[in-house]
This record gives sequence, structure tokens and C-alpha cells, in this order.
Amino acid sequence: MIVLAIANQKGGVGKTTTAINLSAALAMRGRTVLLVDLDPQANASMSYLDVRSLQKSMYDVLTGQATLADIIQPSPVPRLDVAPARIGLAKLEGQLVGELDAHYRLKDRLQTIKDRYEFVIIDTPPALGLITVNALVAATHLLIPVQSSYFALEGTDDLLETVERIRARPNPDLKLLGAVITLHDKRTTLSRDVQKAITGVFGGRVFETTISKSIRLEESPAHRESIFTFAPQSSGAYEYYKLCEEVIERV
Ligand SMILES: Nc1ncnc2c1ncn2[C@@H]1O[C@H](COP(=O)(O)OP(=O)(O)OP(=O)(O)O)[C@@H](O)[C@H]1O
Ligand SMILES: [Mg+2]
Repeated sequence: MIVLAIANQKGGVGKTTTAINLSAALAMRGRTVLLVDLDPQANASMSYLDVRSLQKSMYDVLTGQATLADIIQPSPVPRLDVAPARIGLAKLEGQLVGELDAHYRLKDRLQTIKDRYEFVIIDTPPALGLITVNALVAATHLLIPVQSSYFALEGTDDLLETVERIRARPNPDLKLLGAVITLHDKRTTLSRDVQKAITGVFGGRVFETTISKSIRLEESPAHRESIFTFAPQSSGAYEYYKLCEEVIERV
């Protein structure tokens, strides 16, 4: 089972958009996929489910009040299931203070479903706290979306330092699968400069595929669809399909 964490503590860089569409692309290519939403904002969950009707969430799983099997919901995409988040997840940090296994909660829970899914994709909140650490401890691979903007690389040091700390102890096998440039606008000089700077930091780990700015990618979650059914001819559909191919090649 490949466990792919999608993380960057910067907000609004395309973590959730990448998580929902990469999950769908993998499922369309025949893989069984579980999308785990660890962000209290629950944007990934809302992209596929009516979250108001849900009683339990990852919060209950991570605090031991429910099993993953209890909360997993089928999505409208065949072969793609969702383990939803709710706002209550924001209280997790307080709940797990002093628990010796606080960092290992997700890893342990995922063991219970390891025969059911080929891929687990984890969407994380814009922070480097306990929730993101749980994702990085449980993950086999990390994918970092980097927004094509002037401040794109600010904070990258902190993120990579956290990754190194996690590799040093709890998860030596964690691999940096790559960085994907998002919200890209090929026409501007700034975007090209930023792309160079990102390549300077991540080298060959930068995915060849870049994700362009696309209104369709913004719209599809409101319709509870992936980009592949909402706007199959759009640049976003093409680019997330290409990214999925690169991900499959690299894992
Ligand atoms: N390629 C894109 N083109 C246009 N809009 C995009 C693109 N990617 C993401 N967006 C939009 O930008 C906003 C932020 O994207 P997203 O929610 O995926 O980022 P995030 O990193 O998950 O944010 P947060 O840190 O708050 O969880 C959303 O409104 C989303 O629809
Ligand atoms: Mg998000």
C-alpha cells in the first residue's frame, strides 16, 4: 500500500485540489484509493460528500472513538473512498497531549485497511503541527505542491527540516516523491523565474507536469465532481492525468 501525504504548511497552494484530483485519476486508472482528509476545514471531504450528513470523522478515528471502517464513505468516483474530516479535528492536538503514541495514531489505524487499498492519499492542513506529523509518520511518500508565486519557497526550509526530523526517527523510509508547481501561468516571466527557483531547491524532484491556473479546477468541487467528469477537456484534467502518470512511474 502506497501512502502518499500531500503537504505544505503554506495555505492555498493547491494541496486539496491536488489530493482530490490525483485520487480520482488513480481510481480511474483502476487503482483502489482511499482519500484521507486530515484538514479540519474538510475541503477534500466536501468535494465528494455531503459532510452535514456524517456523524463521525477522522477526529473520532484518531482519538480512538471509531475505526476507519466505521467512517469510510464511498465517493461518486468508482474505486475511490473517502475518510472524511470535520471541524472537530482542530481539537485533536489538545486531545492527544501527553499520549505516547500521539504521532503514530494514523499509521496504526491505516494498518487496519492495508489490504483494501492500493493507494492512500492524505490531504493535510496548512500547518506543521501534530496532524501533519501524523501524516508524515504514516506516509511512504510525500508530495509537495508549490504555488507558482513570488513567495513560493518561503517556509520550504521549515517543511524540509520537519521531513528530516521525521526521517531521523519515526519514519526513516519516508521518500520525497516530488514537488509539483501549481497555479502556474506559463505566459509570465515571473512564473518562469519561480519555476527556475523551485527547480534550484528541489532539483530533479520537480515533476515535469505543472498545473496551470484554471477556473474549472476551482469550480469542480462545488459540483462534487473531479475535474475528469466535470471538465474532461480542460487543461486541469489533462495536467492532473499527466501528474498521475508521473506519480505511478515514481512510486
Ligand atoms: N490550478 C488551479 N487553478 C485555479 N484555481 C486553483 C488551482 N488550484 C487550486 N485552486 C484554487 O485555489 C484555492 C486554494 O486551493 P486549495 O484549496 O487546493 O489549496 P490548499 O493548499 O489545500 O489550501 P489550504 O492550505 O487552505 O488547505 C481554492 O479556491 C482552489 O479552488
Ligand atoms: Mg486544503
